[in-house]
Amino acid sequence: MPKITFVDSLGESRTVEAEIGSTVMEAAIRNAIPEITAECGGGCACATCHVYVDEPFLPLTGKASDQEEDMLDFAYKVQPNSRLSCQIVVTQELDGLTVRTPERQG
Ligand code: FES
Repeated sequence: MPKITFVDSLGESRTVEAEIGSTVMEAAIRNAIPEITAECGGGCACATCHVYVDEPFLPLTGKASDQEEDMLDFAYKVQPNSRLSCQIVVTQELDGLTVRTPERQG
């Protein structure tokens, strides 16, 4: 299974295995990753699953949809590499993906 590393706002790193076809947010919730609350359960309706995607993986995670872009307007400290982790589907190519979490959501 692909491995995903979450780095929290204090720099602590946690690597988990993620099922292909699930989302990065689901991998975070299953593994009790801090700083991702995912209040809407993956419906692209809360922006509390905000992450920063490490640069080398940006081409592989694709672009945010218009709906995701609209929700990102409600996220805290949005950057060009901001994504909603519930909208990133895990593929084998994403093995080694590193995402960072902001110090707070929403
Ligand atoms: Fe709500 Fe991602 S879980 S937008």
